[in-house]
Amino acid sequence: MDNTGRFKVPSINIEDTNKRRLRNNTPSVTSSVNASNNLRVSSSMNLNIQHKPLHFGGMTSVNPNTTRGKKVYIKKGFSTINWYELNNESSKIQGNQLISGLGKLIQNEEFIKLNETENLINLQRFVNNYNKIELYKIRPMFKINQKILSEHQEVDDCWCVIKGRVYSISRYMDYHPGGKQILINTCLGKDVSNLFDKYHRWVNVDKLLEKCCVGVYTSSY
Ligand code: HEM
Repeated sequence: MDNTGRFKVPSINIEDTNKRRLRNNTPSVTSSVNASNNLRVSSSMNLNIQHKPLHFGGMTSVNPNTTRGKKVYIKKGFSTINWYELNNESSKIQGNQLISGLGKLIQNEEFIKLNETENLINLQRFVNNYNKIELYKIRPMFKINQKILSEHQEVDDCWCVIKGRVYSISRYMDYHPGGKQILINTCLGKDVSNLFDKYHRWVNVDKLLEKCCVGVYTSSY
């Protein structure tokens, strides 16, 4: 308290909470508060503000596996920002490098049969040059059904369906803020739209996995 009766708030450094977390490697953040020295505050006022854990850069994040709140370790170099560096137009990743199992796909008779009627020209171009013709840009997108999907249910070649689109997610797994294991437990060859919405309806999967999109899911055989 100073001689004017005002409570003197000790000077507080205003730090970017993300940076601080990176330095301390702590899962939850107590933020600094922008307080001026002459702010009237009660001595019992609690200035600590709890933030939702962040998921960037080698941080811990909330787990997946069983319940929320358990921490999982995200390897250094596998943050969401690192993923965006791969999954954008100007990234060094070209062609279909984020997609697994393409050699298998072009030999899959079911895939040919399902797409040759309505999408023959794209199909021919793709089969002849499947490393270069980017699947996610093809319009109309190729159709994938359950039979084709079930050929891609290994950790190293994992496809799944989210909101009507088929994504190849093996390359993404290490970058998943909720951890790799939950994806292995739930996604191999499955439609995980409900789970996806249960945990993070707000996540823009179309954008985040744009280059991992293989096609649209169809229930027809
Ligand atoms: C394969 C596509 C998926 C993508 C692109 C994806 C993306 C993300 C992203 C961006 C976050 C961080 C969200 C945030 O901080 O607000 C996250 C967290 C998480 N994800 Fe996923 N996810 C996928 C699939 C799943 C599935 C299928 C499950 C559950 C079975 C799941 C469970 C979780 C959990 C538990 C977290 C931590 C949630 C929290 O912070 O409360 N994710 N995911």
